[in-house]
Amino acid sequence: MTQAPVNVTVTGAAGQIGYALLFRIASGQLLGPDTPVRLRLLEIPQAVKAAEGTALELEDGAFPLLAGTDIFDDAKQAFAGANVALLVGARPRTKGMERGDLLEANGGIFKPQGEAINAGAADDIKVLVVGNPANTNALIAQAHAPDVPAERFTAMTRLDHNRALAQLSKKLGVPVSEIKKLAIWGNHSATQYPDIFHAEVAGKNAAEAVNDQAWLADTFIPTVAKRGAAIIEARGASSAASAASAAIDHVHTWVNGTPEGDWTSAAVVSDGSYGVPEGLISSFPVTARNGKYEIVQGLEIDEFSRARIDASVQELTEERDAVKKLGLI
Ligand code: NAD
Ligand code: LMR
Repeated sequence: MTQAPVNVTVTGAAGQIGYALLFRIASGQLLGPDTPVRLRLLEIPQAVKAAEGTALELEDGAFPLLAGTDIFDDAKQAFAGANVALLVGARPRTKGMERGDLLEANGGIFKPQGEAINAGAADDIKVLVVGNPANTNALIAQAHAPDVPAERFTAMTRLDHNRALAQLSKKLGVPVSEIKKLAIWGNHSATQYPDIFHAEVAGKNAAEAVNDQAWLADTFIPTVAKRGAAIIEARGASSAASAASAAIDHVHTWVNGTPEGDWTSAAVVSDGSYGVPEGLISSFPVTARNGKYEIVQGLEIDEFSRARIDASVQELTEERDAVKKLGLI
């Protein structure tokens, strides 16, 4: 190892996503095969013992890139010196529960974590919020980190993006690698809008290749938007390995960039683009260059897409107003 290790803080490390995520970080899949990492795990006191068990297993993995694992039950210590922070720890949605119900329960977690990031994270900190309701939790954390550039706070819609890629690939019988420029707009919730109108499949427009408006409106969009609930229904627990995989993708792309001629989806702080109120953390089509996510500009949005983007952004606005009322931002 020639380079100093990158500090990666993971909250909720003893949870099911944490278990799927940590070994992939340690193996180099988050930051690349040449970047050593030091893991800093944050858990609530009752789960520290379980996190210690995971740390024993991480040691047993003998990962050449893993410089060490430290465990904390104090946010200030866990985020001290963090270069990358994966905010996974939250209360998962259980059967029949909507994300709105989680706002209050989770809001209290993300305020102190934002403060801790503000107080002690490294200057180049990049934050990905996975814990639901992810967009609004990211907004809460960001609001309490006034010294960190707002653009460093993001929330995960890469899982939705990957789900959309998989559904379109199945429908058209093409490998996912041939699909470019899909986009998820709005909230990581059932109101999200997976958009194929700008997508390309083997160089052709995806909506034209599908040529089936009923499938788009009645099958594709609801399948992607409600996939989280379908997995909860089937497994009796929310998605874990696919969520961990998407978190790896999100940070890897952020650090290493998007390929020429493609983009991805991430929930980032709105600059007012596409009529999304400034400051909301909403999903957009984004490119990544030089360690920065940027919203793809200049896309034409037709009426069909406009109505769906507006509905999801409206939900984000309501979540923001609700946490404001609760004094969380
Ligand atoms: P889990 O219950 O298995 O694990 C959560 C862990 O977080 C637990 O170990 C718990 O002790 C810990 N935790 C709780 N409060 C904490 C705090 N204040 N600080 C540190 N750790 C804390 O849940 P999971 O299945 O790993 O899911 C985690 C979150 O990710 C949930 O909110 C879930 O809804 C969300 N999720 C998001 C996406 C997405 O696409 N954005 C996908 C799947 C799951
Ligand atoms: C998912 O999309 O799988 C997660 O966000 C789980 C959920 O709460 O829907």
